[in-house]
Amino acid sequence: MLLSTSSNQSKALPEPVPPAAPDFGERFSNHTSMIPLLDNFINFQFSKNEFKAKYEECQVLGEGSFGTVYAGIRRSDLTQVAVKHIPKEKVTYMWVRYQNSFYLCVSEVILMAQAAGLLYNSSDENRGIIGLIDVYDLEEEVLIVMERPQKSMDISKYIEQQEGQVTEHKAKSILKQLVDAALLMHNNGIFHQDIKDLNVLVSPEEDSLPIRIIDFGCSDFVKFQPYSEYNGTLSSAPPEVLYGIQNDAELTTVWQIGTLLKELFEHQRHILKGYSFLSQECIHFMNQCLTFDPEQRPGLEKLQCHSWLTGTLCRLRLMVKMCWNIPQSCEAQAFRKAIHNITLHNPKNSLLK
Ligand SMILES: Nc1ncnc2c1ncn2[C@@H]1O[C@H](COP(=O)(O)OP(=O)(O)OP(=O)(O)O)[C@@H](O)[C@H]1O
Ligand SMILES: [Mg+2]
Repeated sequence: MLLSTSSNQSKALPEPVPPAAPDFGERFSNHTSMIPLLDNFINFQFSKNEFKAKYEECQVLGEGSFGTVYAGIRRSDLTQVAVKHIPKEKVTYMWVRYQNSFYLCVSEVILMAQAAGLLYNSSDENRGIIGLIDVYDLEEEVLIVMERPQKSMDISKYIEQQEGQVTEHKAKSILKQLVDAALLMHNNGIFHQDIKDLNVLVSPEEDSLPIRIIDFGCSDFVKFQPYSEYNGTLSSAPPEVLYGIQNDAELTTVWQIGTLLKELFEHQRHILKGYSFLSQECIHFMNQCLTFDPEQRPGLEKLQCHSWLTGTLCRLRLMVKMCWNIPQSCEAQAFRKAIHNITLHNPKNSLLK
């Protein structure tokens, strides 16, 4: 990571008060310094005029407890951007070491960049995280310039746009990407802490419903001991937090993912007084995420392999059905026999239900 190339090299403190280097968790503990993957990627700048010359701001996209986010355009190439304004009194900083110097950097920016896999070169690139473009550390506020995906909206607005009728198929597309992005983010050493409908963007006009996680204002590094604090939204807090018991980063994320899934179906559940409109696999997935006892709750890797997301069982059932319809085919007969044997030996696991 390179700090400003031009305007303010003085932010580097050559002889720092020895701060604790950011703890990226065990995976990165052998690294002695932050190695940039992309030079200049985090380009902290300090002049409002430079910002104004480079970007034009338009309508408000959203307002939260940390700041106001505006839609904007980069003048040079008309790229769509979002600009988050955070008043200085709400900004938190952390020490970051880069090439034997220490820098005070905006925590939200560091956490967002590392979640996307951009700081340590042993990290995984994570396209599920919103891209960072520029940061302006001004006298009265910090401006974070981010990507603004075409025709995207947060999931709360998406539910409204769908008039509360989000289908299971669409929910699955969203959830599959969310679980993948969350797992990569945790592997990159970042705990978002506030996964919820307002903090996930979706682009509804694209068939694959691409998602991007935003808002690292409450995030932290993944610690391998339990957390005794919780900074996320109360309505998506896991029970162990509400009971004041220590919580684990990954299991909190899993609970928050389950809460978001529940939210997608909330309107229909209310009208139909239950989840009869969902498949058993989907209900099982949701129940797994929302397992009350954290010790019984699956981790992200296990969740990623859940049959609702992978479609394993669905595909097998489909294959079996197809074979049943081609009795002349030898392969089909062999397959039928094999499946018959499986179901004979494991009657509870019948694939032909
Ligand atoms: N990159 C972006 N592209 C499009 N919209 C965005 C983007 N970033 C934020 N928004 C919109 O702005 C809203 C507020 O942004 P954000 O969550 O970062 O602010 P916040 O103050 O930290 O929110 P809160 O404290 O309520 O979680 C989001 O819910 C979303 O609707
Ligand atoms: Mg937010």
